[in-house]
Amino acid sequence: MDSFLVTSKGPLKGAVKISGAKNAVLPVMAAAMLADGVSKIGNAPKLKDMRTMADVLRVTGCRIKESENELSIDASDINHLEAPYELVKTMRASFYVLGPLVAKFGRCRVSLPGGCAWGPRPVDLHLKGLEALGAKINITHGYVEALCNGRLKGNTFSFPISSVGATANILMAATLAEGTSVLQNASIEPEITNLVKYLIGMGANISGIETRTLIVQGVEKLNPGDGSTIADRIEAGTFLAAAAITRGKVKVTDMVPEHQSALLEVFKSMGCEISAGNDWVELDAENKELLPVHITTLPHPGFPTDMQAQLVAVLSTIKGTSSVRDTIYSDRFKHVSELERLGADISLKEDTAIINGGRELTGAQVMASDLRASAALVLAGLAAKGQTKISRIYHLDRGYENFEGKLAELGAHVERIH
Ligand code: UD1
Repeated sequence: MDSFLVTSKGPLKGAVKISGAKNAVLPVMAAAMLADGVSKIGNAPKLKDMRTMADVLRVTGCRIKESENELSIDASDINHLEAPYELVKTMRASFYVLGPLVAKFGRCRVSLPGGCAWGPRPVDLHLKGLEALGAKINITHGYVEALCNGRLKGNTFSFPISSVGATANILMAATLAEGTSVLQNASIEPEITNLVKYLIGMGANISGIETRTLIVQGVEKLNPGDGSTIADRIEAGTFLAAAAITRGKVKVTDMVPEHQSALLEVFKSMGCEISAGNDWVELDAENKELLPVHITTLPHPGFPTDMQAQLVAVLSTIKGTSSVRDTIYSDRFKHVSELERLGADISLKEDTAIINGGRELTGAQVMASDLRASAALVLAGLAAKGQTKISRIYHLDRGYENFEGKLAELGAHVERIH
């Protein structure tokens, strides 16, 4: 299992290019299963999660080719309507194959994804939505079996809470259902919009793009897709946080500033100087005395839970009391005890981390527990005096392409040890 050795080298400086978004490419890969023929996905990030999704699709009979930045998925010969436990347990997004498979083939069997390192993550909304479209759902031996007689039937489904994954799954299923589906209180994360655009490119009839009500007129058949993947707003945010925590100045390029409004507001209220262009943002924290802030995570366009851990790390270096409340995943705080090993002073009260910031961080041995927690530990390591060893870095490899290489371009010293 790989580890990172992070050595503090002072403020990060320079420019870094952002890759395609993990959370955008995964549902689009599943969407490719809806057509017969070869779909193309541009700006696909080279990530472990992308390869896990490719393996899930291969099990079903898809043929996948990966070239420099483009994925091609040939879904002409899907013949095994199952996503096995061994793959689904390693990546919850594998569950995205459920909607497309039952919509196209009338049946499938997908392992339940189970919980995450930080707590339970149910799939009840995915299942309720598919039931609303007429699928019969049966859970047996840890697998979800979905069946329908002929095509799914369009219906109105209202999400009781905002769910990115359930929106994607039910939307994909609805594209091939008979009649009209109305998805109310759908998620409006940029990755959902990316999926909607890709599906429309395949011939799906969807209106209400970027709103919380998606109206889908089902079609009998979809064509293979061809589209690009939006920039990863969480990768971009993580590099901005790296600039803030090291009091550096970093220009993050090939990204979409409008996707980051809530995060940029937080950096501004901390006292970071933010400038932005069409596809870049620069964060300048050089020689600045940053200020504590209070953050609450919310569905988009609110502050993203996927940036929560990184911000807890940044705030632990800022004098004064900050707080970070996670309303999406109230237990997502595994990074807190590890940050404490580096000297951070953080207490947890229900869904809120209270950070008594400004204590000196010093290098230590820590363990990554999940994807974004790993990134938070790397950031803290960059600011800590001496050397920090972070084990179980495979969590980080799930969602950051060449993280240590990109950090090195900014002057950081992060060594991977096998
Ligand atoms: C996606 C992202 C993840 C991000 C999360 C929230 C991908 C691959 N992953 O995860 O990085 O942290 O959105 O922005 O895109 N819920 C239910 N029942 C369900 C589904 C969800 O109760 O059937 C709850 C969850 O426990 C959570 C909330 O809904 O409290 C939002 O979760 P959801 O948006 O579904 O997250 P994911 O799609 O799993």
